[in-house]
Amino acid sequence: MDDLDALRARFPPARDLPDWAARATQPVFGEGPPGAALMLVGEQPGDEEDRAGRPFVGPAGRLLDTLLERAGVPRRDTYVTNAVKHFKFTQAGKRRLHQSPNAGDIAHYRPFLRAEIALVAPRLVLALGATALQALAGKALPVGRSRGMALRTQDGVPLRATMHPSALLRLRDAESRAEEQARCVADLRAAYAEAS
Ligand code: URA
Repeated sequence: MDDLDALRARFPPARDLPDWAARATQPVFGEGPPGAALMLVGEQPGDEEDRAGRPFVGPAGRLLDTLLERAGVPRRDTYVTNAVKHFKFTQAGKRRLHQSPNAGDIAHYRPFLRAEIALVAPRLVLALGATALQALAGKALPVGRSRGMALRTQDGVPLRATMHPSALLRLRDAESRAEEQARCVADLRAAYAEAS
C-alpha cells in the first residue's frame, strides 16, 4: 500500500466489519498531513463526526482544539484519527447515544489503524483514552498508570497516553476539571516536543 487514499479506497480491510457499523452514516478516516511527526488517536467518531465525515469536530473535538492551542501544538501539524472508524450507538428516540467499542470491535479495525500508522510514519503516537491505548498497545492498559510511561505500539512506534477529551468533559467538579485539563495540556506539549 503506497498512500492513504489507496488505503481508504480499500476499506474495509481484510476482516468484515461488525454488524453495527452498517448503521453509521459513513466511515470517518484520519485527517492531517502524511508524514506528520505526531499522531493523535481517539476512540471512535461521535454523532457530529459521523455526519460530517471528519474526526474530532464535535464537543470532544472542540475541547481538543482548545487544549492543543493551550499546549502550543498546531492541529494542522498533527494527524488525527480514531481506533474505530464508525460511530457505534444505540437509538433513544431521536437521539443516538454513544456506545463504547468492545475488544472485538477494536480488533476489527486494528489492521486499518496499523496500516494508517505505517503510512503516516509518525515519530510518536499519543493515545487519547483507553480504547485507543488498547488498540495501539495490543492489550488493555490503564490510562492512569500508563501516562508518562515510554510505551511502544505493537509495531514498535513510540507511544504515550493521556485522557480522552470526552472523559474531561464528563468531569463535573470544576477544580478536578481544571486540573485534569492542565495535565492533558502538559501531555500534549510533551508529546509534540518529543515528536519534533
Ligand atoms: N470524536 C472523535 O472523532 N473521536 C473520539 O474519540 C471522540 C469524538
